[in-house]
Formats: sequence, C-alpha cells, structure tokens
Amino acid sequence: MTLDNYFRDYLHRTDDKVMTKMDHYLDVYHRLLAPWRSQDISFLEIGIWKGGSIKMWQDYFGAESRLTFLDIDPACKAFEVPGLTVEIGDQSDGIFLQDVATKHGPFDIIIDDGGHKMHQQIASFNALWPRLSDGGLYVVEDTHTSYWPGFGGGFRAQKSFVEFSKDLIDRMHSWYTDQDDIFPFHPIAKALSSVQFYDSMVVFEKKLKLEPPKTIVSENGLVTESRKILEVRGRKSIF
Ligand SMILES: C[S@@+](CC[C@H](N)C(=O)[O-])C[C@H]1O[C@@H](n2cnc3c(N)ncnc32)[C@H](O)[C@@H]1O
Repeated sequence: MTLDNYFRDYLHRTDDKVMTKMDHYLDVYHRLLAPWRSQDISFLEIGIWKGGSIKMWQDYFGAESRLTFLDIDPACKAFEVPGLTVEIGDQSDGIFLQDVATKHGPFDIIIDDGGHKMHQQIASFNALWPRLSDGGLYVVEDTHTSYWPGFGGGFRAQKSFVEFSKDLIDRMHSWYTDQDDIFPFHPIAKALSSVQFYDSMVVFEKKLKLEPPKTIVSENGLVTESRKILEVRGRKSIF
C-alpha cells in the first residue's frame, strides 16, 4: 500500500468517529484537491453522519480554512468544534441553503455527501452553484444512486442526477448552437468550465467566462485571437 496519498494515510490516524467514502474517491480527492490544501479556503460538506469526515477535512485543509458542514439530523450539532460550523437543515430546502451560503459562503469547494436522492442532489446544486466561487469545485458523491429507482433514479431516468449532469454538458456547449429552437444559449455556459464524471462521482468546475470563448492561432511566433468558432450558422467545416 502506498501512503503518499494524504487520504489513505489519514485512514490510519482516525479516532472513534466513523467515516465512509468509496475507496477510489481517495485517489480522486488526492489529485483534485492538492492545490487547495492548507489554503485560506471556504468549504462546505453536506452530510455529517458520525462526524468522521469532519476531522479529515479539518486536518487536510488546516487552520487557515473556513469549514461548514450541514446535516438534517439535529444530533450532528454535537460535532461542532472550534474552527468549524455545523448547520442543521434539509439539503432540498433552497431557502435554508441560501441562508447557509449567506452566512458562510461563497464556497470554494462544496461536497454533497448527503441523502443521495435525486431531488436532494438537484435542489442542492441549483441552490448552491450560484454560491460557488469563481475557480471553485462542486462535487457530488455516490451518484450510482442515479441508477437506483428507490432513490428516484433508474437507467436513463430523466430525473436522475446523472441525466441532469449530462444535460449540463450540453448547456456548457450552448455557445456553439446552430439549433436555437431546441438548444438555445444557456447562461450556465458563462460559468461552467468542466463536468468530470468519475465512477459514482461528478465534479463541476466553475470558471467565469467574462467573454465568449476564443481560439488562438500562432504562426511564426505571432499569436492572434479569433471568435470564428462562434459563427456556426450553416457551418460544415471547423476552419
Ligand atoms: C453518507 S452520510 C455522510 C457521511 C459523511 N460525509 C462521511 O464521509 O463520513 C449521509 C448523511 O446525510 C444526511 N442527510 C440525509 N438526508 C439529508 C437531507 N435531506 N439534508 C441534509 N442531510 C441529509 C444523513 O443524516 C447522514 O448523516
């Protein structure tokens, strides 16, 4: 076993507060979160359960970070310790989430490890995406529940979080539409820069695009910019 992954190493330093994550998330987090470690960041995790991940994130991000955790179970308030806040409420309640974001946001990193039901994941994303900082990451764990009818999912179920995420891939590309009737420009294209699908996990990256996307051309060391890529009407060639 290699211990150069903080998260794998941490598993050997835990106390009696149980934590649960799928094994491969530890490798994803190791790669994804390295630039954020020990920084003055604002972090939110939905879902506390027995409090194990609270200790891990506090240890990982360090004393400079501002950490918020939320859960529907009032007993989780007991996990509040100096240096972090625990809020109690329902992740599908947009008003509650707005209130949490107003108090503690905007957030650089948001992890949804809450109830994992479709309406919960979608309601939380819709309420919190606008409260994610420029450059921030929004992570949804355990998205295999998108394939479980008992959670509101099912194979290609229209209301599943995976289908919702696939739809956002289309919206991210809506700069390039030539089919306005069925595929109009969507404002999220101005902020969504990537949608990364892992096994059971989806990661959305926010990067504000103050101007439409451009192409750069370099010839003999001379760099020019073009937005011809946006002129798509009737187009049949990329050049
Ligand atoms: C998978 S556990 C969280 C595990 C924890 N993040 C960890 O890594 O150890 C899920 C938690 O989500 C909470 N939860 C379920 N439905 C919720 C809801 N609608 N709003 C907020 N939290 C919810 C549960 O009470 C439970 O504590």
